[in-house]
Amino acid sequence: MDGPSGSGKSSTSRGVAARLGLRYLDTGAMFRAITWWLLQRGVDVEDAAAVAALADAPVLVSGTDPAAPSITVDGVDVAGPIRSAQVTGAVSAVSAVPEIRARLLREQRDIIGAGGIVVEGRDIGTVVAPDAAVKVYLTADPGARAARRTAELTGTTVEATHADLARRDRLDSGRVTAPLAMADDAHHIDTTPFTLEEVVDQVVRLVEERA
Ligand code: C5P
Repeated sequence: MDGPSGSGKSSTSRGVAARLGLRYLDTGAMFRAITWWLLQRGVDVEDAAAVAALADAPVLVSGTDPAAPSITVDGVDVAGPIRSAQVTGAVSAVSAVPEIRARLLREQRDIIGAGGIVVEGRDIGTVVAPDAAVKVYLTADPGARAARRTAELTGTTVEATHADLARRDRLDSGRVTAPLAMADDAHHIDTTPFTLEEVVDQVVRLVEERA
C-alpha cells in the first residue's frame, strides 16, 4: 500500500490486515524511528554523510500486530515520539539517504518473509515488494488529506498541515533513490469521496479476487 501522507494509507492498511487476519508493517514508522534516534544524538539530518555513517547503528524492532502497532529503537518505545512535528519535519531528509534506505530495505524484506502481511509506505510496490500479490496506491484531494491529518494532530492548523504535506510530497517524490511512485500494476484508489470502511471494503475485495 503506497501513497502520499494523509491519503488514508495507515488506517486502510490496518483495517485490511485486521479484517483478513494478516500482519501489518508501517515502513514510515521505521524511517521516523531512525530520524528520532538521530535527532536525540544531535545529528544534523541535512548532513547526508553524517546520517549515512550512522545508518546501521540503531537497533529497530517493529511490531506487526495491526491492532497494536509498536516500534522500539535501542529498546526505547518510540511509538509516540515519532509522530512529533520535529520528527515529521526531519524524516524526508533522512529517508532520502541511500544507506538508510538500503538498511531498512533489508529489514523490511526480512519482516515480509513469505508474505501474509499488509505493508504501507512510499516504495513498497515499486522496490520493496515488486512481487506483491495485490498493490494499491491511495491518493486523496490535498484539502481532504490536510483535514484528516489536522484532526489527528494537536496544536496545528489545516493551513500549516497543508504546507507540510506539500513539502513532504515534493521531497518524497523528487528524491533519487526509491521515490514515491505508483507501480504500473497497482490499483489506484482516490479515497476522497469514501469512508474508511468503504476503502477497506474495496481493498479486501481486491485481495479476495486474488485468493
Ligand atoms: O508514512 P509516514 O508519513 O509516517 O512516513 C514518513 C516519511 O518516511 C515519509 O515522508 C517518507 O519520507 C519516508 N518513507 C519513505 N519510504 C517509505 C515509507 C516512508 O521514504 N516506504
